[in-house]
Amino acid sequence: MADSPHPHSTEGPAEAASPGRHGMTRRRALGAITIVSGAVIAIVVGIQSLRYLISPIFGVPGKKRWQTVGSVAGMKPGEVRKLSFVMDQSAAYMTEKVNRYVWVINDAPEGSSKLDLVVYSPICPHAGCYYNYNEGKNQFHCPCHQSSFAVEGVVIGGPAPRPLDQLPYMVDDQGSLSVEWKVFQAGEPKQILISY
Ligand code: FES
Repeated sequence: MADSPHPHSTEGPAEAASPGRHGMTRRRALGAITIVSGAVIAIVVGIQSLRYLISPIFGVPGKKRWQTVGSVAGMKPGEVRKLSFVMDQSAAYMTEKVNRYVWVINDAPEGSSKLDLVVYSPICPHAGCYYNYNEGKNQFHCPCHQSSFAVEGVVIGGPAPRPLDQLPYMVDDQGSLSVEWKVFQAGEPKQILISY
């Protein structure tokens, strides 16, 4: 009789079935860590999503939008020059180097020694292909659906819904050209900025 446990005792079989005070505390702590971790992940993902959504409007914070693309020194009036460069392209958490180029035209009148530049995005405004310059015709031509553009950028043939997209630029004292890289929505009659 002395060995049987008291019905209200906390010792014996009843203690083995209960998680006990320490078990509860540990479980609560683990639960709290899980909730906090989930909240932190949600906040980080939310910030990245927000950055992606507003980047066409405000730009990606810290991203270098202006790119040094090459020299325009000595460009003659009417000359068309393709300038290639490498830029950082960010997507989510990844940044990679990508090859880009722009088309540059010196629109100064014949005989002028000054530069009057126009810089075009190389992306066709019809469906986003990369177009070429046809020196013989002095025109731009897109191989995808046969759109053609005068060097002034206007559409002279094919389905392109708007002229070539111009990019803002700067030229320093040494003739080095920098452009603000922008990408516009293809297939729209008006320019709609979608990314830098
Ligand atoms: S993408 Fe250039 S004509 Fe269609």
